Amino acid sequence: IKRIGVLTSGGDAPGMNAALRAVVLAAEHYGIETIAFRHGYQGLLDNDAVPMQAKDVLHILQYSGTIIKSARCRRFKEVEAAQLAAKNLDSLNIDALIVIGGDGSFRGADHLANHWQGQIIGVPGTIDNDVYGTDQTIGYATAVAIAMDALDKIRDTADAMDRVFIVEVMGRDAGFIGLCSAMSSGAERMILPELQKEKALTISALVKHIKRVQEIRGEGSYVMVLSEHQWPGGAVALSEQLEAEYHLPCRPCLLGHIQRGGPPAPADRILASELGVHAVELILAGAHRVMAAKSQNACVAVPLRETWEKKHPLDENLLRIQHEIFNPVKKKQQR
Ligand code: F6P
Repeated sequence: IKRIGVLTSGGDAPGMNAALRAVVLAAEHYGIETIAFRHGYQGLLDNDAVPMQAKDVLHILQYSGTIIKSARCRRFKEVEAAQLAAKNLDSLNIDALIVIGGDGSFRGADHLANHWQGQIIGVPGTIDNDVYGTDQTIGYATAVAIAMDALDKIRDTADAMDRVFIVEVMGRDAGFIGLCSAMSSGAERMILPELQKEKALTISALVKHIKRVQEIRGEGSYVMVLSEHQWPGGAVALSEQLEAEYHLPCRPCLLGHIQRGGPPAPADRILASELGVHAVELILAGAHRVMAAKSQNACVAVPLRETWEKKHPLDENLLRIQHEIFNPVKKKQQR
């Protein structure tokens, strides 16, 4: 192995820079050159390639975003796109490619593997944590910390004004951010994709819950975490409905892309550092079409296809605790 390529793809995640730095430093350590492709797969198609050395990744691990840029590249699904990428990789004499991204990016990596002979290794980077085979993805810890911090702030004003707040968090297909931010901030309720799929919450059940909590506690503050795309019209529509139809003082708060910025949490910097090195060492060990992951405290290699074909489940025990033990309204009273 003389030369490897690296790119960041899909929604950026805090810690992607730390992962890039780790890849470059590990490659240099083992006497391998690194070429970065800018703007994710688009860079592979445009041959937008830049050599990377240790000096190019100095002092970047404390920043979110990605210095080599990221993008969502729809065109990469096409066979011709993968063939063009393979041609470009070969023309640069690249032996292996590291893709830092989420499940969509891994699908792209697997697609490329059908048309290119080099080794391909994924590194899980997404705030959603919805990748099977790794305990956590790079960026997730930061997103939860940001959401928790926002929820703590919201609680101050909710308490002061005796209001209901609906705080919308990211994770349209997975409730990891929703569940853990709700638990770490003591939210009264959460609406998560996994829960909605099981049994969708109705407005009347929600109103009943809010009123009961307010009655039990003798005060009005009620904070709900809502995963994006889980209510028609989102937090804004729901809070308008609660005010207009049920006369509950309510405000929405959309955290949006704030969850992807600011200093990456220590856990993300460390995970990214370890997995970036692991990815390079997997290449040296001859691995191909796998994701460099951390599972049960060990560095492992997970077949790329499994990362999206299998579902990363929410922690059942956390769900139970948050939903039952911490629910101010006990089951008997709900009936
Ligand atoms: O995949 C990460 C993520 O932040 C999701 O939580 C969110 O639904 C999506 O990206 C937003 O994508 P975009 O930045 O393209 O609007």
